[in-house]
Amino acid sequence: MRGTAETDTTYQQLAESVVFKRTNKNVVVESFNDKQLTIAGSGRSAYVFKLHNTKRVLKVFYPPFEHLAKREAKIYKKLEGINYFPVMHASGQNYIVIDYIEGFTLFECLVMGKRIDEKVLNEVDHAILLAKSRGLNPSDIHLHNILITLDGNVKLIDVVRFEQVKQCNQWDDLKRGYYKFYKKKIFPRKMPSKLLLLIAYFYKRNLLNRFVT
Ligand SMILES: Nc1ncnc2c1ncn2[C@@H]1O[C@H](COP(=O)(O)OP(=O)(O)O)[C@@H](O)[C@H]1O
Ligand SMILES: [Mg+2]
Repeated sequence: MRGTAETDTTYQQLAESVVFKRTNKNVVVESFNDKQLTIAGSGRSAYVFKLHNTKRVLKVFYPPFEHLAKREAKIYKKLEGINYFPVMHASGQNYIVIDYIEGFTLFECLVMGKRIDEKVLNEVDHAILLAKSRGLNPSDIHLHNILITLDGNVKLIDVVRFEQVKQCNQWDDLKRGYYKFYKKKIFPRKMPSKLLLLIAYFYKRNLLNRFVT
């Protein structure tokens, strides 16, 4: 197939153009090929770049998480054909290339005051069910890993932990929080991002159980 090898080399080169720097607190990008890439987001193991003139992103895992690229690629292959997940186009030692999802994460929706409909929760449940039917154990499903596209469809990203054995309760806890707080009239229309990050911080340290149960 003409072009595949060339394209993959280009992805490889683009991934190699990304230089990371470790600071006291986290990892930041020091430089990258900014003629072809724009930062689209980052998480606890990678930076994600929009590839110019395409509808794709390049997710580059930073040290020491490079090995997760292969794991995530393998899982995306298992999810192939399920519309709730981006299509994967290529992968390498420390990167994957997947569809760019034009829209907002649930985190961004909360910060911007963009209403999250109950339908979104049902769609995520459906996506989880479909992933389970492929033998996976959907995990790490939280506000930064669920996107709503501009035409209102739901997409899940960051599937790298879908093969873990441990039970992950994040999605069930988020759903409980939705019905217990978000649906209430007094819930603020917009949430400051710092407050949301603080809630996530306490949640991860098991300090919120009392409020969400
Ligand atoms: N396919 C995509 N389309 C648009 N934005 C994305 C895409 N993938 C990731 N992002 C953005 O980048 C962030 C980090 O990506 P993610 O895959 O969750 O990395 P990590 O594994 O480090 O958490 C996401 O929260 C989202 O904001
Ligand atoms: Mg993530």
